[in-house]
Amino acid sequence: MKDRLGVLISGRGSNLQALIDAIRDGRLDATIALVISNRDDAAGLERARAAGIETLTISHRGWPSRDDHDRAIVRELRARDVGLICLAGYMRLVGPPLLEAYPNAILNIHPSLLPAFPGIDAQRQAIAHGVRVSGVTVHLVTSELDNGPIVLQRVVPVLDDDTAETLAARILVEEHKTYPEAVSIVLAGGWRVEGRRFLRSASAASASPSRLPAGS
Ligand code: GAR
Repeated sequence: MKDRLGVLISGRGSNLQALIDAIRDGRLDATIALVISNRDDAAGLERARAAGIETLTISHRGWPSRDDHDRAIVRELRARDVGLICLAGYMRLVGPPLLEAYPNAILNIHPSLLPAFPGIDAQRQAIAHGVRVSGVTVHLVTSELDNGPIVLQRVVPVLDDDTAETLAARILVEEHKTYPEAVSIVLAGGWRVEGRRFLRSASAASASPSRLPAGS
């Protein structure tokens, strides 16, 4: 079912927590059916358990191929009738078995204004490049890393005295607001993908308008 979410994590799980909180507070009409981590020491697993959500660790190690790992994940998600996958700090490339099982139904959150600074250490890359603004992107997942049609972006200014850590902390505040909102937009339907563009119908956009960028 569409509003049954599967959340994939690898670590801290603060974006998972943001989704849990948004559902609890009634800002997001969905159910997290399952949280899967590829690492058994991911702190996010504890956050899920504390919220009474089923968890599984499916290590990426020990499978004959990357696809076999992905297929195992698909089996578990399908068994729980998951309709939308949210990557929340899941530090693995998503392969064909997952993409084919969930076409246009996998979301990722990334701490930069994509297509700038994909990959790891996006905030450090932004500081090193000297950009004046960075931010957060939620996008549909394709086979390319941190790529795919953009559902929502929020801008975060980069300050002269920012370090990667201070910038990451300010971006994270926006991430936690942006991810539940983007999931709501996708679950509400009334959108289509044209080329690289994620386009909402006028009625869908007016039913759940997205907030203005931070600082505007
Ligand atoms: C978040 O900043 C997320 O945007 C980033 O990993 C962090 C996970 O934190 N994701 C990526 O860089 C994806 N390429 P969390 O585990 O506390 O949600």
